[in-house]
Amino acid sequence: MRNFEFFNPTRLIFGRGQIARLADHIPAGSQVLVTFGGGSVKRNGVYDQVTAALKDVAHVEFWGIEANPKIETLRKAIALGREKHVNFVLAVGGGSVLDGSKLIACALADDPARDPWDIVLTRQPVGCIPYASVMTLPATGSEMNANSVISCIATQEKFAFQAPHFPTFSILDPDCCYSLSAAQVAASLADITAHTLEQYMTWPGQSRPMDRWAEGLLLTLKDIAPLLREPKPDYDTMADYMLTATLGLNEMIAMGVSQDWATHAIGHEITALTGIAHGATLAIVFPALLRVMIDDKEAKLVQMGERVFGVTEGTPRERALKTIDALEAFFASLGLATRLEEAKVDVSVDQTIVERFKARKAAIGERGHVTWVEVEKILATARPAK
Ligand code: NZQ
Ligand code: ZN
Repeated sequence: MRNFEFFNPTRLIFGRGQIARLADHIPAGSQVLVTFGGGSVKRNGVYDQVTAALKDVAHVEFWGIEANPKIETLRKAIALGREKHVNFVLAVGGGSVLDGSKLIACALADDPARDPWDIVLTRQPVGCIPYASVMTLPATGSEMNANSVISCIATQEKFAFQAPHFPTFSILDPDCCYSLSAAQVAASLADITAHTLEQYMTWPGQSRPMDRWAEGLLLTLKDIAPLLREPKPDYDTMADYMLTATLGLNEMIAMGVSQDWATHAIGHEITALTGIAHGATLAIVFPALLRVMIDDKEAKLVQMGERVFGVTEGTPRERALKTIDALEAFFASLGLATRLEEAKVDVSVDQTIVERFKARKAAIGERGHVTWVEVEKILATARPAK
């Protein structure tokens, strides 16, 4: 196991009716910028709960942070925050609203002359004002991590950076999930699966507790996926869904182990160029990446095959290949495309992505073995419809 330091200071406030406790956790005297997406919170009652909870808290609203939050929109929110002398940001919505709010919080602590896109490109925020969330979509784990992924319309780019601080608190009420569409749930389950795999699917023998925790999350996802397709899943299923998303990317399963993240890097490019939902891109890229990188991944695939998918027959290579098939079948069972052609991604997108990795001289993945050459192979493997 590698040396590590674990520190996750986010207060997680979880359960039915907990949005009512919002004001208890916002420091007295705060001037709050409350950020929203496109309006789902008005349709599912979350906005009314937030407004009631903030009745005695000074605040101003900003609406319109879109999926895959755009720097062009966030500049407007930052300007509003400066004008109103905001000192606390509260994101109400999915991962996009919260990721966008992390950049807003960083920009409000920075020199007004600095363009916030520079914070993303350099990955060097100088600070951030406190921020928190009411998370309405289980997927990103953004509610309990410092990551933020921001897109730029002008350049069709999408990059991640880390805020200097975690959310001070996040409120998660599983009842918020009942308004999610089947497509949103499918993409989110693929995202949670991919987060777990990025931290697990490297090589075995690094940490028993990390492996068992990750496998526990994967088994939970397999258990709840069919239940979430029922017309009205029970509350405890929704609660398991929400908590699994949080645990998938709050650094709990990352202690002392190597990590991959190449699938995410490729998936972000697909979203930036096509607009396909983040989780949906990962269902396409992950099986292809595992097929191309099988020499590096074989031993861990055999372990996951046995412990998660019940694959026990054959040579190690046969078991690894069967495990990838089982993972792809799991993504397909969610109703997601698992190939670029099935998702109607034009072949020109593949070439643009390869050129971008070439220009960046990328060497990513847990061993730095994924360069533009492997990216080209991964996209070619992901292309043909099944
Ligand atoms: O904008 P509104 O109207 O609120 O609608 C949203 C949005 O259209 C809707 N929605 C959210 N909660 C809902 C709901 N609809 C009905 N009922 C609810 N309870 O869902 C749509 C998608 O929302 P979005 O926030 O974009 O989804 P998600 O949470 O999956 O976030 C995706 C973004 O997070 C980034 C992705 O790259 C992408 O930009 N990620 C962030 C990470 C992090 N911070 O750690 C890690 C991830 O790997 C990921 O990269
Ligand atoms: Zn993700």
